[in-house]
Amino acid sequence: MEEKIKRLWEDLKGSKHAIALTGAGISAESGIPTFRGAQGLWSKYDPDEYAHISSFRRDPEKIWHMLRELILVLKDAKPNPAHIALAELEKRGLLKCVITQNVDGLHQKAGSKNVIEFHGTNSRLICLNCPDVVVDAYSLDYKEFPRCPKCNALLKPDVVFFGEPIPPDALARSFEEARKCDLCLVIGTSAVVYPAAEIPFVAKRHGAKVVEINPEPTGLTNTITDYIILGKAGEVGAKLLELMEKEP
Ligand code: OAD
Repeated sequence: MEEKIKRLWEDLKGSKHAIALTGAGISAESGIPTFRGAQGLWSKYDPDEYAHISSFRRDPEKIWHMLRELILVLKDAKPNPAHIALAELEKRGLLKCVITQNVDGLHQKAGSKNVIEFHGTNSRLICLNCPDVVVDAYSLDYKEFPRCPKCNALLKPDVVFFGEPIPPDALARSFEEARKCDLCLVIGTSAVVYPAAEIPFVAKRHGAKVVEINPEPTGLTNTITDYIILGKAGEVGAKLLELMEKEP
């Protein structure tokens, strides 16, 4: 693993336009559950029942039992060395942007500036009826489920539910980055949810190197990935930070 991390560091330094695509796994060591797998959120909550926009429209109160649990975890979560390493790489001009499927805001908390939130963010609550209503999700205590100050409907986190479109600006910018990049880091994602999973394929088709960081192989690993660092993102991030410290 050490050798591969060194190889990644050299590849980053040799790249002209590196980008990262991140998923739930990068925040696992910050205490946020991933979606798939034995401990994943979708093993506790059926996504068809809890993650589809039609379910939210039908019975928002039911969905809020899950959302409240998640928002309270996210509110206090702190970035881990993987988020910090990406922020440091950006500061050094070695990473041009992070495209994240996560809604936890940890890249920004770590100091990353150019972050594309492909699936929206849990930090804002919006109203499905009143387009001008936006509420800071972390300013509330959730003793009661949050309601719209104008129409009293239950608010919805500004995240993409299944059945909802990707925010057009995030979609366009992400695929532009995918076409432009020469190195695409894919960290902590099972790469099964589209269109986000298409990003590394587009990068590859346009000549980029694809490098994964994940303790498990994914569908990308034996198809388009040049090499995978089989490890936890936080541990790999800490090692990358050590390498960066040696070359200030
Ligand atoms: P998944 O839960 O599908 O996948 C998490 C990935 O992280 C897996 O490949 C794990 O092997 C890996 N992993 C676990 N621990 C890790 C660690 N410490 N370091 C690095 N990797 C680790 O999560 P996503 O791929 O992000 O969408 O899921 C994609 C989308 O599916 C989410 O954005 C969400 C979900 O439904 C929506 O809600 C629209």
